[in-house]
Amino acid sequence: MTDAAPDTPALPVAARLPRRPMGVLDSYRAARRNILGIIPARALEMPVLSGRTGPQRWHMLMEPGAIRRVLLERVEEYPKSEATKSILRPAIGESLFVAEGDHRRWQRRAAAPAFAARNVDALTPVMTRAAETAAGRIAALAGRRALNAVDEMVAATFDVIADVTLSERGAIDRAAVGAALDAYVDRAARVSVLDVIGAPGWLPRPGRAAAARDLAGMQAAMDAAIARRRGTGPGAVPDLMDLLLGARDPETGREMTDAELRENLLTFIVAGHETTALTLAWALYLCAFDQDVQARARDEAQTVLGARAAGAEDVPRLGYVRQVVEEALRLYPPGGFLSRTAQAEDRLSAAVIRPGDTVMIPVYGLHRHRNLWNDPDAFHPDRWSDRAGIDRYQFLPFGDGPRICIGARFALQEAVVILATLLARFRFTAVPGRRPDPVMILTLRPEGGVWLEATPA
Ligand code: HEM
Repeated sequence: MTDAAPDTPALPVAARLPRRPMGVLDSYRAARRNILGIIPARALEMPVLSGRTGPQRWHMLMEPGAIRRVLLERVEEYPKSEATKSILRPAIGESLFVAEGDHRRWQRRAAAPAFAARNVDALTPVMTRAAETAAGRIAALAGRRALNAVDEMVAATFDVIADVTLSERGAIDRAAVGAALDAYVDRAARVSVLDVIGAPGWLPRPGRAAAARDLAGMQAAMDAAIARRRGTGPGAVPDLMDLLLGARDPETGREMTDAELRENLLTFIVAGHETTALTLAWALYLCAFDQDVQARARDEAQTVLGARAAGAEDVPRLGYVRQVVEEALRLYPPGGFLSRTAQAEDRLSAAVIRPGDTVMIPVYGLHRHRNLWNDPDAFHPDRWSDRAGIDRYQFLPFGDGPRICIGARFALQEAVVILATLLARFRFTAVPGRRPDPVMILTLRPEGGVWLEATPA
């Protein structure tokens, strides 16, 4: 790490976790502003922490073996919590992200081929194009104005997901669909954070009606796009809509209805674009924070790419850039909090579980756990050069088990392609005095933005 100048902090930004136990109303208030604010600092030294908020019993799990039991071994006894699903159901129905049991399994089988390595490689030119466009926008600002990496990366990843879900250009107002969805999710999530921790029904939940209004137009636009595609048939390079239209359950031969198609396409947009954008924005923040890491990643990117933007064939040779992405996912996991509802009695680590209990995996805390990581709050991409000592269940940016993120490979490929292309061309430095604050509502965002100066490399 760079020698710290007197005014340069030695560690990248971290959430302030409460040191003292909180009362019920304080927890609700904290959770509404930042769900990380309900992870007590001492949880980062414990395998499991149990408590009760009003009538709701909850457990925060941080022991890899116990997490494995919830996500893999006993997955049917730990469905996603109703709170998480109620946020998303009005927008994306019983799609892959929300559904349980057989209905989820068949959708997963139908969609899986679209996310297989071969298809991700085939879709990579879309990522390369988005990287080139983002580099063009940044070049126009370089040396003149600071940029907010969050806005730039949201624009880049939205280009990618819109291109791979609905490649028809012009026929649908993609930006309007994206904005409506983001507005919906943001409003709905703030409301339902209250439900995650079991807030009583009388606490006001503003925003639910407004959130519902954002939806109707967006769903109509998607339906129209699907109807058009049924008319025209697949394009030369099939996009996700083509792949889902052609998908059959390998066991039953069942196809998706139009409503299922719409819900799954919206799911990919919701689940896929902001998460990847945040990964990239945090990675750029970290590169500006540690110029030595940035220089090493830039050397690698320039050696592999020269003046080109990265493509699928380059990714295997961008190993250090990938380590930077993984370290960003450790320190700032966009899905920083997973939540399940226990269906049966069980024992997880030292905790006795009863049906109805909320079982949370505070991924943000797990990734900084004092007993699991050396130097847990420090930015060390080198820790990923040898993974031998890292348990699979202590690093869960994409979850695990049968519900592991279907887009993980896609997201990593996209992040490496875009980050390598940008680092090869620009040197990023932080705007003095502007530090992002890690705040999680539905995803872990850098509140205040990631403000950077870019200069040509
Ligand atoms: C860096 C980017 C991403 C992160 C950090 C991320 C994170 C996650 C996590 C943590 C889960 C599991 C949630 C749980 O178990 O409660 C998940 C599931 C999912 N993700 Fe991602 N995701 C990313 C990108 C994507 C992309 C690009 C897509 C699609 C285009 C996608 C689609 C999905 C879907 C459909 C599920 C539900 C899978 C199932 O339940 O079978 N994600 N993601």
